Amino acid sequence: MQDGSNLSDHILSDHIQAECARLDADSDFAGVITDIAESCAAISKLVRHGRLAGNMAAEHDTNVQDETQKELDIVSNNLLIEHADKGGHLIAVASEEMADSLIFSQDNTRGKYLLVFDPLDGSLNIGINAPVGTIFSVLRAPEGATGANEDFLQPGSSQLCAGYVLYGISTEMVITFGAGVAIFTLDPDDGIFKMTDSHLTIAEDTSEYAINASNQRFWEAPVQRYISECLAGKDGPRGRDFNMRWVGAMVADVHRVLSRSGVFTYPVDEKIRARGGRLRLMYEANPMAMIVEQAGGLASTGHGRIMEIAPHNLHQRAPVILGSKNEVQRLIDYYSELDSNLDSNLDSGA
Ligand code: F6P
Ligand code: MN
Repeated sequence: MQDGSNLSDHILSDHIQAECARLDADSDFAGVITDIAESCAAISKLVRHGRLAGNMAAEHDTNVQDETQKELDIVSNNLLIEHADKGGHLIAVASEEMADSLIFSQDNTRGKYLLVFDPLDGSLNIGINAPVGTIFSVLRAPEGATGANEDFLQPGSSQLCAGYVLYGISTEMVITFGAGVAIFTLDPDDGIFKMTDSHLTIAEDTSEYAINASNQRFWEAPVQRYISECLAGKDGPRGRDFNMRWVGAMVADVHRVLSRSGVFTYPVDEKIRARGGRLRLMYEANPMAMIVEQAGGLASTGHGRIMEIAPHNLHQRAPVILGSKNEVQRLIDYYSELDSNLDSNLDSGA
């Protein structure tokens, strides 16, 4: 720090104030982020209690995605909503766990912001005491907004703030306001998020990738090519060995990419083509894409920038390829080669 103090003396509330001043944002904007942080601190406390807090892996109904909701999914969703409602800074929230947005105010007395979140990402990990997280994205409400689903349908490039909280060995919030990425670690002694990295960057090169390899037979040709070249290692065209990791919670897998480089992929494949992908655009792909780009990486569908997709549905899915610049670019190049071969075959009538 310039004044000689420790990085961790810079706490999240200072950072929020500084970013609000830089963006010339109002106090509601600061309130939105503060409420998210308080919700996540409460979720962290629950997660830390594990089985002592009851059976957080207990199964409930299926959500709008047709996925079984776990107790902790529901509790986390409620915590975020309660803090947002009490704070009074949002017009509406939308969540992975709710079919439609929840409107707090239609008379614009509650600021001009919208919040969309995945309250508990990777919830299959709850039952095995493995990492889970919360992902969030803050949008400006359009002129005349009522808080209905349509108001949320903005491209990722419109996000004002994006972040996630990883409930891992420690609880960390990774956040961007569009000018770099910072990490805040939750101090278990006083419950304050303290800065532990002021400017996170992803190395441009990497020898580590993350993909659910059980889907291999459904992959598209560019993904088949990329992964088979990685697997060929030193003896193949890449001339070096690659490592593979898959935690099964996007927050944890992306955090590894941000921490030590890598490529994280959940491409569209034949099995999920009709759904458009596996991960949800508004509260998984877009916030992660903003963080990764702000850290110097790339975030693509294979055919274009994730953050340029014009959404048509709150819960729509998107293919995701993100992380270290040069590896993501390589996969994009493989997609372009395929596209141009298809085009020239069409032109020649083949
Ligand atoms: O939220 C969806 C999610 O759980 C992500 O966190 C994770 O990356 C992915 O799904 C895991 O997918 P799979 O079940 O195919 O491993
Ligand atoms: Mn998720």
